[in-house]
Amino acid sequence: MNNIIYLDAAATALKPESVITAEMNFLRDEYANSGRGICPRAAAVDASIAKARQKVANFIGAESTEQIIFTSGATDGLNRVVHLVSALPKFQSKKPIVAVSDLDHHSARLPWMESGAGIVIWQLGETFNYDMSKVPVADVVVITAMSNVLGLPINVTDLIKAVRKKNPDALVIVDAAQYVVHNQIIAKDWDADFICFSGHKIGADTGVGVMYMKSPDDFFPDKFGGGMVNKITGAMSCTLNVAPDKFEAGTLPITQIIGLHKAIDYLSEHRPNLDLIKYLYDRLSKISRIKIITSRNAAMLTFYIEGMHVLDFGAIVGARGVCLRVGNMCAGWLHNLLGLSGTVRISVGTWNTMDDVRKAADIIEEAVK
Ligand SMILES: Cc1ncc(COP(=O)(O)O)c(C=O)c1O
Repeated sequence: MNNIIYLDAAATALKPESVITAEMNFLRDEYANSGRGICPRAAAVDASIAKARQKVANFIGAESTEQIIFTSGATDGLNRVVHLVSALPKFQSKKPIVAVSDLDHHSARLPWMESGAGIVIWQLGETFNYDMSKVPVADVVVITAMSNVLGLPINVTDLIKAVRKKNPDALVIVDAAQYVVHNQIIAKDWDADFICFSGHKIGADTGVGVMYMKSPDDFFPDKFGGGMVNKITGAMSCTLNVAPDKFEAGTLPITQIIGLHKAIDYLSEHRPNLDLIKYLYDRLSKISRIKIITSRNAAMLTFYIEGMHVLDFGAIVGARGVCLRVGNMCAGWLHNLLGLSGTVRISVGTWNTMDDVRKAADIIEEAVK
């Protein structure tokens, strides 16, 4: 891997060979558009998309493929949800009240802030978990299933139950961008209205993501164009296809969807080895200048260094081949809450070995000595 130690899986995962091969084969030998033709090659593409959609539905425990909408990523899905929900008749005269938390990635909260919705903050408890005694009153609740700074999965089923107890009609949106890498999503048990994640963090290509919709028939599309129309009925009227087509106007990221299928196959067999994080935790917690803010059993290791700017640290270890993340990780609210302008985050993927983290720990020790 060009002599680098890639420890930035939470930003984006390296790709399994099977994903690369599937995409290359498709681009070279099998390429055509989907939903557009009846020649055998086009039909084969449609079949591949259908299989990939079924794969995603099984992977996240959805009830039907109609609930699986391909997006360009978690951010795209989280923005689209805002448009879909805001277009509901009940929010035409009064904008929704949306509950967010300081665990949120910028992609989960900013779209709502920009929509003009009312925002309430779901306070976190002492361990930076959702405080179950402070479930807010809201029309929409945004849940971050795993913070991209703290790396601990929340109990989504229990949280959603608590939300629905207080707000029976609330729509619940789950940002599962980090959760999906390490944990099983079970959409039918969670009872979330929307679940969004990106393909690239689970070993697929960039440009593809998933938006699960519990009840697609309850929503009017947010995007319009080819592939979604059932019949043009007049100069200004048409009928629409049913979901998922209704929500997938335009050409899909076909190559990336084919890669996503393979990425899920791979991830289902190989999850990242979190013992590597425990090893780093044990080594780095012995260095007094390093202040770890994550727990030993988290999916990532996040810390700051007393007396050293995280950008300097990142540049020093980066020059020695250790690729990790420094900054606020697009989680500015959590960093404000922690009173930190930035942190260092180490995250591992399926390609990482004990040898990688041993070497990285040596380099980090030298950098902060
Ligand atoms: C928790 C969380 N939500 C959303 C996103 C946004 O994902 P993407 O940039 O792939 O759209 C990320 C990416 O880092 C994330 O960690």
